[in-house]
Amino acid sequence: MKVCVVGSGGREHALADVLRRHHDVVVAPGNPGIPGSTPEPPESIDADLFVVGPEAPLVDGLADRLRAAGHLVFGPGADGARLEGSKAWMKEVVSAAGVPTAAYSSFTAVTPAVAFLETLSPPYVIKTDGLAAGKGVLVTESLDDARSGVAEYLSGAAFGDAGRTVVIEEGLVGPELSVLAVCDGSRAVALAPAQDFKRIGEGDTGVNTGGMGAYSPVALADHSVVDDVVSRFVQPTLDELVRRGIDYRGVLYAGLMFTESGPRLIEFNVRFGDPETQVVLPRLTSDLGELLAQAAAGRIEREPEFSRDAVVTVVLAAEGYPSAPRTGDVIGGLEAASGVDGVSIYFAGVGEGTDGSLVTAGGRVLNVCGRGPDVSAARTVAYRGASEVSWPGVVMRRDIAAEA
Ligand code: AMP
Ligand code: GLY
Repeated sequence: MKVCVVGSGGREHALADVLRRHHDVVVAPGNPGIPGSTPEPPESIDADLFVVGPEAPLVDGLADRLRAAGHLVFGPGADGARLEGSKAWMKEVVSAAGVPTAAYSSFTAVTPAVAFLETLSPPYVIKTDGLAAGKGVLVTESLDDARSGVAEYLSGAAFGDAGRTVVIEEGLVGPELSVLAVCDGSRAVALAPAQDFKRIGEGDTGVNTGGMGAYSPVALADHSVVDDVVSRFVQPTLDELVRRGIDYRGVLYAGLMFTESGPRLIEFNVRFGDPETQVVLPRLTSDLGELLAQAAAGRIEREPEFSRDAVVTVVLAAEGYPSAPRTGDVIGGLEAASGVDGVSIYFAGVGEGTDGSLVTAGGRVLNVCGRGPDVSAARTVAYRGASEVSWPGVVMRRDIAAEA
């Protein structure tokens, strides 16, 4: 098969790498670090299967346009992608589906929003209704910060129109888990679970980012936990989408928190997670292209299979990420890093310098992945690789998977 992966980040690099085990792959637009990248728009590429990586083109209807042109596409249409495009709508759908999730209300005006905040106990959780690249969530112990957050979101000052409706949620506490399920319109099958590290700082401190590292497998999530997530969270949501006439063929990514009263849904994303994909897909031993093509065609016929090996990824970000990343620095040490046994590097925010070397061109610049027989061994390999890579001001967390 010829597969076209749409997107330009570390997730798309990992998708392309794993798909290429069995298929020909192009990545549109990709980046200078991803082999097979092409500047051609997806609409003008002739491929047997399209796999759309990021949420923004899905919310914008790219999968619908490609399907209308007769292509086989893995990724929901704009109707299903609204699960990620509007958190208020997602909350309404999952409530109708009976999925356990944090209590919430949504607001467009400051006074009732603040009045609702004052009825809650910390941590206070405030989210933009619309897309904000994983950065639109404020979690704070301080009621004052929560009040001023609400005002900044609703005024449009913090996140533009994405914040003009806010969702305020009950604050949950506990370890998080990402379960990515592949859906064929009526049935969901889970991939191996992963844990992501969302905060910029070690010890889970500082602001939320798109994700600073991840690992898979996750000890707290054995088969019975994953089966429970599919049967109580993902499948009921897919069934609710069917009831609403939505034919959802793509990833339903359940972000969960394991609270004292059991697992609770934090959010659904409508795509593969980044950086979860970089640790989940390399562990796949069955054919990814076949799975995604079957889901895209409306019938998954074979369950995915995974190696017992573990993979850990560490994100290397540019100075100033997530608010104002510095770009244009030459990335050193790539050859030494990729020479470390068990290391793979997936490129995200990179560009090409005048001499052909790779330079930083975005917030999350690259992922160094380490593979090993268990999480601790994989972690050692990942950090051995990461320590070889350098540019001025490089930011990375040193505690990814430290307690796994
Ligand atoms: P989201 O974009 O909805 O995944 O939120 C990003 C991160 O914010 C999550 O991974 C959690 O760490 C945190 N978060 C979101 N919702 C809640 C909540 N209700 N309680 C506590 N933390 C949350
Ligand atoms: N790693 C979190 C996300 O992909 O949204």
